[in-house]
Amino acid sequence: MSTPTTIFSAELAARLDRLVTLYPVKRSALIPMLLYAQDEIGYCSDAVVAEAAVRVGITELDVRNVLSYYSMLRQKPLGKFHIQVCTNISCMLRGGYEILEHCQHKLGVHENKGVTPDGLFSVEEVECIGACCWAPAVQVNYDYVEDVTPASMDAAIDKYRQLARPQ
Ligand code: FES
Repeated sequence: MSTPTTIFSAELAARLDRLVTLYPVKRSALIPMLLYAQDEIGYCSDAVVAEAAVRVGITELDVRNVLSYYSMLRQKPLGKFHIQVCTNISCMLRGGYEILEHCQHKLGVHENKGVTPDGLFSVEEVECIGACCWAPAVQVNYDYVEDVTPASMDAAIDKYRQLARPQ
């Protein structure tokens, strides 16, 4: 049965209704629920926290404890395209810091998780994203950019800029 009031689209609300039935314990649905919510809303806002708590039957504090643990869950709005540059050992050895500085310089974003004024991009230095064999690696939302060079990063940024343009 559907939650009476929801901040989500009808489609996502129905998906979340089903999600909690897939696990023996409702709270097990919390992390995928927050990820789906974040994809739609942009981040895990106070309203997302409140609704997720009701949906899985735990307190908002419990939800916030999970939120603060997982770095992939956002507690504030980031760019439409969130660029995560890995600087862990494999990527560091193959130029990860240069790629990070390149992204920061190109986009004028100089603080970690900073957002461009148009809200299109944010840049974050992250730990290993599991693409060490293709270092240096960058993750943009759910996409990977591998064996990154400044030129290929520029091309990726241009591609995302184009995607954001109205068709
Ligand atoms: S060290 Fe960068 S992806 Fe693993």
